[in-house]
Amino acid sequence: WLSVLSALVLGYLFGSIPFGVIFTRMAGLGDVRKIGSGNIGATNVLRTGRKGLAAATLLGDALKGTAAVLIAYYVWGAQLATIAALGAFLGHLFPVWLKFKGGKGVATFIGVLIGLKPLAALIFAAVWLGLAFTTRYSSLSALVASAATPVVLWLLGEPGMAGMTVILVALLWWKHSENISRLLAGTEGKIGQKG
Ligand code: G3P
Repeated sequence: WLSVLSALVLGYLFGSIPFGVIFTRMAGLGDVRKIGSGNIGATNVLRTGRKGLAAATLLGDALKGTAAVLIAYYVWGAQLATIAALGAFLGHLFPVWLKFKGGKGVATFIGVLIGLKPLAALIFAAVWLGLAFTTRYSSLSALVASAATPVVLWLLGEPGMAGMTVILVALLWWKHSENISRLLAGTEGKIGQKG
């Protein structure tokens, strides 16, 4: 139990680093939470017009999840790597440093998948990119790609990971409830659109 808790905390500490907030502040653009959708993620950083910063945010928010999973894997093994993935995701969504108001989890979701099951991450990325290019909605692409992931993991013979990602998907969808309302109302901003 101590190692389960340690894996969860390790994941949380990595996941709670808010790269979007850090990078936009470092670039002298102020607080990303006062821009566009108010979210701390790469999609919203892109609304500042700075593609490089958005890419760095995507990379940072993803790789912190990958790092947590890989470290846990080498220290404790495969099962606790899945727990570290959960911790990293929770850290990104509820970072203590931002009074528990974090992001929506898309980049960190793909990051933990890279560490857990690279093929599932690749499928997620393919679905996301396919939808993003055709619809230009970042949120819709993430909602569909994430919902497919537990099924993909199950088919790849990873029922434990599939079960864990059901929790992540439920949280990711819940964090996107405003996006879902806007999508249904036809008012959701498209990728790169200033909001
Ligand atoms: O994944 C974040 C994206 O799905 C939505 O971001 O800023 O448009 O709410 P945002």
